[in-house]
Amino acid sequence: MSVNPDHNLQTSATDSSGAKLPRHVAFIMDGNGRWATARGLPRTEGHRQGLEALRKVIRHAGKVGIDVITIYSFSSENWSRPEAEVSFLMGLLRRFVQRDLSELHEANVKIRIIGGRRDLEPGILKLLKEAEDLTRNNSGLELVVAFNYGARDEILRAAQALAQKVADGVFNPEDVTEDALSGELDTSGLPDPDLIIRTSGEMRLSNFLLWQAAYSEFYFCDLLWPDFDEAAFDQALDCFGARERRYGGVSAKTF
Ligand code: FPP
Repeated sequence: MSVNPDHNLQTSATDSSGAKLPRHVAFIMDGNGRWATARGLPRTEGHRQGLEALRKVIRHAGKVGIDVITIYSFSSENWSRPEAEVSFLMGLLRRFVQRDLSELHEANVKIRIIGGRRDLEPGILKLLKEAEDLTRNNSGLELVVAFNYGARDEILRAAQALAQKVADGVFNPEDVTEDALSGELDTSGLPDPDLIIRTSGEMRLSNFLLWQAAYSEFYFCDLLWPDFDEAAFDQALDCFGARERRYGGVSAKTF
């Protein structure tokens, strides 16, 4: 995979038809609970179907030639959900790793986990580490799983790491640059997301990739996550292809 670690802002690639393709797409997979409630089912059934939608998205991303996808699978705030739902989500993550890991590895997918590791249950930590270790040298699609993730927490941890370097005399305050901070984030070395997709009609970032989203394009759709499929993904990619990204500059058309 051709991810350039030195540049967080990169021009997008193109697909075989020459259309602009995002290199990195991030997903806020929202609406599982509503999907289930609308069908008179327990919320957990929405999460189960959500995992099916995720499998479709991973396969499709690989097929169309996207380099990186990031999924918001469990936020640091999600622990406040009812215990039974949290426990179901942990079980789903366990099943996802146990059932899908070998298939993902065969498909050359590289898994990376972002989010706070401190205070995680040892069983979950072991599982996450196993997924990363097995796929570390793969060179295909990079699947970034945001688990126990909160962007403010990620930025704070990075700021603390830099402050420690200054305190240790390894860094001068003026060495605290954008690149230095990016390098301390959990996403260090990854390109910033070109496109962030949120389903279910909600239009907010919910503490997801706050630093990395500085120049991301946003795509919101009304579909609930379990209904998000290849066609919906293609529609988002088409919409991205039609966007003009200026990174704070002016349109080429105005010259
Ligand atoms: C948001 O929907 C979704 C989540 C908090 C969990 C996302 C999890 C999956 C899609 C399952 C697969 C992923 C892994 C790796 C385990 P919501 O529950 O907030 O829906 P609502 O807003 O309708 O209540």
